Amino acid sequence: MSSTDAISVIRTKRDGGTLAPEQIDWVVDAYTRGEVAEEQMAALAMAILLNGMDRTEIARWTAAMIATGDRMDFSALDRPTTDKHSTGGVGDKITLPLAPLVAACGAAVPQLSGRGLGHSGGTLDKLEAIPGWRARLSPDEMLDVLRSTGAVVCAAGERLAPADRKLYALRDVTGTVESIPLIASSIMSKKIAEGTGALVLDVKVGSGAFMKTLDDARELAETMVGLGEDHGVRTVALLTAMSTPLGLTAGNALEVRESVEVLAGGGPRDVVELTLALAEEMLAAAGISGADPARALADGSAMDVWRRMIAAQGGDPDAPLPEARERHTVTAPASGVLTTLDAYAVGVAAWRLGAGRTRKEDPVQAGAGVELHAKPGDRVTAGAPLLTLHTDTPERFETALAALAGDAIIVSPEQTATDQGAVPPDSPVLERVAV
Ligand code: URA
Repeated sequence: MSSTDAISVIRTKRDGGTLAPEQIDWVVDAYTRGEVAEEQMAALAMAILLNGMDRTEIARWTAAMIATGDRMDFSALDRPTTDKHSTGGVGDKITLPLAPLVAACGAAVPQLSGRGLGHSGGTLDKLEAIPGWRARLSPDEMLDVLRSTGAVVCAAGERLAPADRKLYALRDVTGTVESIPLIASSIMSKKIAEGTGALVLDVKVGSGAFMKTLDDARELAETMVGLGEDHGVRTVALLTAMSTPLGLTAGNALEVRESVEVLAGGGPRDVVELTLALAEEMLAAAGISGADPARALADGSAMDVWRRMIAAQGGDPDAPLPEARERHTVTAPASGVLTTLDAYAVGVAAWRLGAGRTRKEDPVQAGAGVELHAKPGDRVTAGAPLLTLHTDTPERFETALAALAGDAIIVSPEQTATDQGAVPPDSPVLERVAV
């Protein structure tokens, strides 16, 4: 019989107190086992969202979440492991070119990824647009793909921080996602349990991200870097811009196509820059020096790893990608400089077109999404195509267009690109956080 109980834990946090280590261990474990009711954990999550947790509480909460499942171990591999996690954005396809690129430079990349929910897409949904590609691998299959290709991207198994799976689903329906302690412990419990030796966090900032301000993003990054280092994972974070979509596509097959362009040595400049910046951090964190990621993109070695990685998971890297049946073009409302193309609005439009889901069990359309023909800072001409909307279900065009109304798209006839704060900075990387 435990000396603590759910009501006293909830009351402690409700009244602004600090949770004792044994309270945290007990409540996380008991909730995972079903002994603490969903409504009790919902009350506690709301109390945490409102009153926060200090560093010691967050560290203990994260350790308790890890302890509800298994910790993977890649120490038998002959290369150092390094991984990247993004806090989620619109058009964020970076994992697709990045994982094979870093593997081509000599590291092993064991990446457990998720599916999209809401306006931000998920890596597994994107890769599943490739005919035959399989997200579910057993731990042995995962290790085999990692050994043979250097990189694996797959779904997290049931035993990886099961407390987080349950808690995240509860937070999603109780308005308690946006809590820095809960986000940090959720992400880091999975990444630490995944067993990577080094980790680079891409913490997004802006309208299309969880963190809308640089201060919040910095606090989240510092918290996660501290948690990683405390658990022996070399962890670095980059704060990166998410006020406009990354690259020129948001949607599953559309983003795979753009990623393959990057692996072929082309692709949009912001995607290439961020991919290279993250690759350099991942290699440095893994202790690999002397590799040249830009060369690995240019000479085709990253593309070779991509093709082997996709084939090892049943995918056909040469198969044509699915295309949506219907298209609708959005034109520039005026001539001038495109000063705003809002990430959140484009993410919601792509989601409504069928690229994302409203409930976890919903299917996604592989071909749906939004293609951009201009980025903030570009000069546009009235009536010229600005966006192409793609979907199999044309009745969705109306709600997608509604998401893009208002201030989502601004063309300033009189202004130059630099007159407007909405134009993103040249480099997508805003700041670096490390201990
Ligand atoms: N991603 C996660 O894995 N957890 C969160 O809480 C938020 C984003």
